[in-house]
Amino acid sequence: MTRFRPISPQRLPELLRRMPKAELHIHIEGSLEPELIFAMARRNGLNLPYADVDSLRRAYAFGNLQSFLDIYYAGAGVLQTEQDFYDMAKAYFVRAAADNVVHVELFFDPQTHTARGVGMATVINGLHRACVDAFVELGLTAALIMCFLRHLSEQEAFETLEQALPFQDKIIGIGLDSGEVGNPPEKFAKVFARCKALGFHLVAHAGEEGPPAYIWTALDVLHVERIDHGVQAVHDAALLQRLAQGRIALTVCPLSNLKLCVYPDLASHRLPTLLDAGVVVTLNSDDPAYFGGYLNDNFVQTFSALNLDAEAAYVLARNSFEASFLETGTRRDLMARLDQTFETFD
Ligand code: ADE
Ligand code: ZN
Repeated sequence: MTRFRPISPQRLPELLRRMPKAELHIHIEGSLEPELIFAMARRNGLNLPYADVDSLRRAYAFGNLQSFLDIYYAGAGVLQTEQDFYDMAKAYFVRAAADNVVHVELFFDPQTHTARGVGMATVINGLHRACVDAFVELGLTAALIMCFLRHLSEQEAFETLEQALPFQDKIIGIGLDSGEVGNPPEKFAKVFARCKALGFHLVAHAGEEGPPAYIWTALDVLHVERIDHGVQAVHDAALLQRLAQGRIALTVCPLSNLKLCVYPDLASHRLPTLLDAGVVVTLNSDDPAYFGGYLNDNFVQTFSALNLDAEAAYVLARNSFEASFLETGTRRDLMARLDQTFETFD
């Protein structure tokens, strides 16, 4: 832990914005803003069932995860060309860099696209080119995590993996997302074992709406290195202990939890319980175009609602580097940059 001078509550939002941080839980299709959806629909000759950007935004009122996913998969339907994937990711990287995000590990959902006849090469080459340019133009490092859709079968996940293997050098990890309840991690035991043997990093959404049991099986059956969301772990003391002792990170997304009605308001979020239990928590935006905020919005609104202080800010930013899949040396350099921000902030 670095030592830093006390920071007044008035100055805390500026510190939250200025501190370097990594984002480890962002679905790139969830960064597609309505303006870009309409621009892509126009250039691809597609009709949308909404008159304009404002009426699309008005539809963003969700009662649970599934009601969001229905609109999110429909929005992703405008993505057709490699340039579309590039433009979507580039727009997100520009926005993330403005929040002092220095490293991103981003999810993509290839099955949403291959099911519409879009080639795996189109998806991965477009996203990868945006990652390369993000480093050259913004100094931001970025890596791709391919997610399997858990409402589909394990056989379909195997087919997706086969299609992606020619691009293995462009993917650092494998994840699991989409409708959680009724689709437990163990449904994907064999394909995750194959991914592990291939040398991929492994993560999975668990304990967003689903029970703590899904977090246990993500760890013990899938052997994931991080849990995405994981907030339902607060209901299982033994699990909290396991996460804390194993330094297994939870990539928590407060504005997502709010918009998908996991909590009635941000003040009810259980982030403090997770931090008090010593769990390695990180803050993330999940699907920022749909949930009303990018990473700094998540930090500023959550800190205000929960009265968190500068020490929590430091811990969360440091956790984002610790939990990343960066090489040890790079991770250490970024932690030193974080220390310097706190030591020189006034
Ligand atoms: N896909 C995009 N956002 C998601 C979320 N919050 N949970 C599960 N799958 C998702
Ligand atoms: Zn997610």
